[in-house]
Amino acid sequence: MAKDFSGMEDSNRSSNPSIHQQSGPSRRVLLQGGAAAALAALAGAFSGGLTACASLPTGERLAFKRVPPGQGDRLVVPEGYVATVLAPWGDPVGVAGALPAFRHDASNSAAEQALQLGMHHDGIEYFPLVGSNTHGLLAINHEYTDDGLLHVGGLQPWTAEKVKKSQAAHGLSVIEVELKGATWQVLRPSRHARRVTLDTPFDVGGPAAGHALMRTAADPAGRRVLGTLNNCAASQTPWGTYLSGEENWIGYFAGPDKPSEHEQRWGLRPKGYGYRWHEHDERFDARRHPNEPHRFGWIVELDPSDPDSTPVKRTALGRAAHEGAWVAVTRDQRAVVYSGEDSRFEYIYKFVSRDPIRPGGARANRTLLDHGTLYVARFDADGRGRWLPLLQGQGPLTAAAGFADQGEVLIKARQASDLLGATKMDRPEWLAIDPRSRWVHCTLTNNSQRGSPGYPDTDAANPRANNNMGSIIRWLEDGDFDGLGFQWNHLVLAGDPANERAEARGNINGDLFGCPDGLAMDPRGLLWVQTDAHATQMSQGEFARIGNNQMLAFDPARGEFRRFLTAPTHCEVTGIAFTPDARTLFINIQHPGESPGERSDPAQPARYSNWPDFRPGGRPRSATVAIRRADGGPIGT
Ligand code: FEO
Ligand code: CA
Ligand code: CA
Ligand code: CA
Repeated sequence: MAKDFSGMEDSNRSSNPSIHQQSGPSRRVLLQGGAAAALAALAGAFSGGLTACASLPTGERLAFKRVPPGQGDRLVVPEGYVATVLAPWGDPVGVAGALPAFRHDASNSAAEQALQLGMHHDGIEYFPLVGSNTHGLLAINHEYTDDGLLHVGGLQPWTAEKVKKSQAAHGLSVIEVELKGATWQVLRPSRHARRVTLDTPFDVGGPAAGHALMRTAADPAGRRVLGTLNNCAASQTPWGTYLSGEENWIGYFAGPDKPSEHEQRWGLRPKGYGYRWHEHDERFDARRHPNEPHRFGWIVELDPSDPDSTPVKRTALGRAAHEGAWVAVTRDQRAVVYSGEDSRFEYIYKFVSRDPIRPGGARANRTLLDHGTLYVARFDADGRGRWLPLLQGQGPLTAAAGFADQGEVLIKARQASDLLGATKMDRPEWLAIDPRSRWVHCTLTNNSQRGSPGYPDTDAANPRANNNMGSIIRWLEDGDFDGLGFQWNHLVLAGDPANERAEARGNINGDLFGCPDGLAMDPRGLLWVQTDAHATQMSQGEFARIGNNQMLAFDPARGEFRRFLTAPTHCEVTGIAFTPDARTLFINIQHPGESPGERSDPAQPARYSNWPDFRPGGRPRSATVAIRRADGGPIGT
């Protein structure tokens, strides 16, 4: 997230304790845990041992030369690597007979935008075609729009056509790509090419489908929603589908002058957060359509292999400001879906499917994510934690407490988690599951309000007040991924200068970074981290030394973070997709040239950046980038 949704992020005023007054660094917490396994994990994470963390195959180590901290409006990769801009905002996705070219003055119509790549790419996944490392589909999220850049004249005047174009620039893209020679190209036309926008019908699956709180005048059955929005992180399921999180959806709605307690808990504001869709599309006026916000905040599932498939909102996974969702597989083949919500003082969830994953891909698992149990995490100060079930009728989740049925528990997952005493986190962003060591990692990007007057104090899992650097927390389930208890520790507290002095600390070492966001474990067990410090942060404090946002690789065997890439001015680095052979890495550069106010000036659109085109008077464009080694070898090693 780049936009300032500070109001919506401070909507958790629930009184459930934010664990246990424990200050000080997480290593101490871990040592206090005392369990032998925790100590083994500590050794693995902090002393360069190989105990608990995944290790690379023998002989494989980080073998690229680190790049220096990033300055200036350019993308820098290590010596011997080549980065190619593949799919920027506005290029046609490749629908046959409909290939509108991008107009650099932003004069494409809404109808043309609906056939072009959307704005502000975030999550991305590569789906091989017939198992290929050189030919496949990319599914891409388009998180939000900068309406100062999206339209001629920016927001002035604000029209129904501009709302339509903003809605068409949101959603998802599916494009077909192929490596030709040494360069990846988008294939156009392609029978796979697809845009999903605010006009695309979605089915609703799971216990909240058809619920009274999901019904609207346009959809009296409560089972079909038009569109998805603010899609942030993404992942790929073992059965071949794409999962995408609807993150800051509340920002698109305008609410009543006096929002209800429920609406306040979700951050609904009378005038919204600046999208102004409600001015020309009454669906986003929650005064007129109070149930419409209930139809967003879900994990959505798309089968990219079938351009005619209807995507589904999976309500069994709970409603939240979902960053994304990631699947682990139990030993008996059930799906465990981890997710967090990137909002200050919100929660981390996991869903355990009732049924095992079936052979046969997307079709065979069409309803897998509709049946199962949702849990929310409580991190205890002793280095242990519990998964608390969100089940209607259990514990405090009664009809008298406002949860008439399971659908209502899922629609009001935040309130249910408040009552269960879940731990209020420092903005959970991406998760990465190590299938070998079975540790689950989660970036906690920052929380400037932690410990401020009137806000929750520090706790063991969120140990820093005014946490503007973030951390990576991780946990290991008891038994299998469906375990109800876990041990946890921090892989790293980001931005700690001590991390740079490997010998002094004898533990985590390497290059400094702040605000970890994107996260992925590659096929060989390297952990990749991408950062999202805001434009207003970048020149302050340690960020002056850290420079532009970046991407790093973490070698668990050595405990080393090494800077792999630095990005153009005021962008974030996001989206991580490797080909199965790890010889191509796809990433997204999001919001290059973001202005501190997050609405660019259409009179000088390239004030901070005009990456990647560098056209005089042009506009910066979010874009998918393909990264290869010049010799074609595996990335990073
Ligand atoms: Fe869209 Fe939490 O980043
Ligand atoms: Ca973002
Ligand atoms: Ca972020
Ligand atoms: Ca993010």
